[in-house]
Amino acid sequence: MTILVTGGAGYIGSHMVLRLIEAGHEVVVIDNLCNASRESLERVSQLSGKEVTFIEGDIRDRSLLDYVLADFEISDVLHFAGLKSVGESVSEPLAYFENNVAGTITLCQAMTAAGVHRLVFSSSATVYGDATRMPLSENAPTGQPTNAYGHSKLMVEEVLRKLARSDPRWSIALLRYFNPVGAHPSGLIGEAPSGTPSNLLPFISQVAIGRLPVLSVFGDDYPTPDGTGVRDYIHVMDLVEGHLAAMRVLSDRAGVNVWNLGTGQGYSVLEMVRAFEHVAQREVPYRIVPRRDGDIAACWADASLAERELGWRAQRGLLDMIADTWRWQSRNPEGYPRLRNSLGRQSGGLTSALPRIYLIDKTHASRMAS
Ligand code: NAD
Ligand code: UD1
Repeated sequence: MTILVTGGAGYIGSHMVLRLIEAGHEVVVIDNLCNASRESLERVSQLSGKEVTFIEGDIRDRSLLDYVLADFEISDVLHFAGLKSVGESVSEPLAYFENNVAGTITLCQAMTAAGVHRLVFSSSATVYGDATRMPLSENAPTGQPTNAYGHSKLMVEEVLRKLARSDPRWSIALLRYFNPVGAHPSGLIGEAPSGTPSNLLPFISQVAIGRLPVLSVFGDDYPTPDGTGVRDYIHVMDLVEGHLAAMRVLSDRAGVNVWNLGTGQGYSVLEMVRAFEHVAQREVPYRIVPRRDGDIAACWADASLAERELGWRAQRGLLDMIADTWRWQSRNPEGYPRLRNSLGRQSGGLTSALPRIYLIDKTHASRMAS
């Protein structure tokens, strides 16, 4: 049986694909490359020594999904594909609802038709909104997101709850990530944001490498120990371990299961800057600017449910997260080559008459006869 990874060429997905291959799973990736490069999968192949089956296509393409789910004998779907820029979601809300919500519905329809009922969904701590009581456990109320990205995650969670209630064959994990950071320790795969990063750690590392002049710290008047925002940063390698653990539990547990994937430990923006300076041994110039719209003061996880039910807890500390981010950034100052940025709009529309399937190895991608 084979695992389908949607969005598997992206930041978290590529680390997941590598870990799945290492764990002995057969994997098929589907990604439309709207925010990724095929290069990430070539590097996964280099690290694993195995070919990666990659289908360049869109999760909104129902006929493509029907073909993939049947022909590759898929047993589980890990669903990372989606758009994730908060700012862009404010200016292009329809693209976010169409891609993230409608895309997931199409995926679930195709899974239903193919008799595949195990799904792990990438949700986000953003669904808790502006909560005041920390740490956040899974039964904390969900909030009112101020942007279409956050809404799309909440809407998908609701769709998946209703689906599982309608049919007991479904086993679904809603994994609420806190703030994923870091990279594979090889420095070969990592996060390659297109344009100027909006997240803290990619921004700091681009300042440290000299691509950006100065970090803007969004507010130093929050009710936190040093006045700057506090977040629960989690190493991407720990995050993907959490998915493996969730898959194991889902294999004999039905219904919808919600698990926070965080460390339980919060760090402020200034703590992150100092830790980065310490690891990279260079100065990270910063200036304090007004708060960013929509930001919250502090957010960190109660990660004890995942520890009890999944037998998983994050192992890597802040210095590992930063050292691995810095190694990736120093070795790939411009990220991956060939990164496209097109909100998922592909030339030629969504429906591919002939699936574009590639067997990717470390040196090239060969198109499979289809
Ligand atoms: P990413 O942009 O690197 O990866 C998403 C991948 O999905 C990209 O490779 C993109 O090309 C692909 N994609 C997008 N729309 C698609 C479509 N319609 N069909 C096929 N492929 C499509 O993002 P990431 O950081 O790896 O995030 C993965 C998932 O985790 C996303 O759903 C994201 O919302 C969620 N998440 C991420 C974070 C974070 O901070 N990185 C936090 C919480 C949740
Ligand atoms: C942001 C998104 C959230 C998304 C998450 C992961 C917003 C409001 N929230 O969360 O929906 O799930 O990314 O993709 O955008 N900071 C600076 N300067 C910067 C960048 C960030 O001071 O240049 C601060 C922020 O104010 C915050 C902390 O760093 O206190 C972390 O910010 P960021 O990495 O953007 O993550 P979140 O805001 O937690």
